[in-house]
Amino acid sequence: VSGQLQGRRIIVTGAASGMGAAIARLFAREGARLALLDISENALGAIAEETGQLAVPTDVSDERSVEAAVKGAIAAFGGLDGLVNAAGVLVKTPVVEMSTADFDKLISVNLRGPFLTCRTAIPHLQASGAGVIVNIASLAAVRPGAQLAVYSATKAGLLALSEALVGELGPDVRINVISPGLIRTAMTEYIWKGRNDDEVSLNRQIRRPGEPEEIAETALFLMSRQSSYVSGANLVVSGGHLG
Ligand SMILES: NC(=O)c1ccc[n+]([C@@H]2O[C@H](COP(=O)([O-])OP(=O)(O)OC[C@H]3O[C@@H](n4cnc5c(N)ncnc54)[C@H](O)[C@@H]3O)[C@@H](O)[C@H]2O)c1
Repeated sequence: VSGQLQGRRIIVTGAASGMGAAIARLFAREGARLALLDISENALGAIAEETGQLAVPTDVSDERSVEAAVKGAIAAFGGLDGLVNAAGVLVKTPVVEMSTADFDKLISVNLRGPFLTCRTAIPHLQASGAGVIVNIASLAAVRPGAQLAVYSATKAGLLALSEALVGELGPDVRINVISPGLIRTAMTEYIWKGRNDDEVSLNRQIRRPGEPEEIAETALFLMSRQSSYVSGANLVVSGGHLG
């Protein structure tokens, strides 16, 4: 099937890198009109140029920045049909060593970010009559790990926020969560230092890390009509994480 998102007007956050960039490329190929949001302006400009889509430099943790970005997308497209929240940050450190600034950063980007984009976009998605929200949480939301306590808490928060929204959106907006396991992106580059794919994938049924394009395919399923009766789901895409 091609053209699965023909004419659909969609905001993608975190579009400059990793999963967000893979989602931008795939959604553009499927015919969507995209507003690509990211704080990393240069990388965002490159993806926007490559895909022929709109770059909107945005700090998702900043209320005014998000409101201006959504307003800009609406002005350009005349409406909004979809929102993908892929922007996120990772700080891996034990709680006793974590600064309050890092705690605040994690909460601001990973939780306040999706709160702000959802709050701003929802009325427009409802007006579309067939709105869709896809939030990228993490396997850590349901399997929190050592040195990832605060990151995991932000992702558990995003999962809870998404599940609660099911009860607030009405019949015209679907919302679903993707919880990726280990995916090969800039965020996880450090894990490969001195280790090969097999070594980093020991506790996975599928003995390799996931690729951002595989998360993009999952996001396409959730954004498209193929998932027309799926809402409130948390789709774990972890290569069969064991234990
Ligand atoms: N890579 C993994 O293994 C993995 C696993 C589970 C969940 N996740 C989540 O998936 C999402 C995508 O991660 P990725 O691996 O593609 O990471 P990435 O670092 O490649 O991309 C994240 C993007 O978010 C952007 N960003 C950061 N702060 C921002 C802000 N304040 N405003 C706007 N944009 C901002 C960055 O500039 C970057 O382009 C994140 O939410 C991450 O937490 C990643």
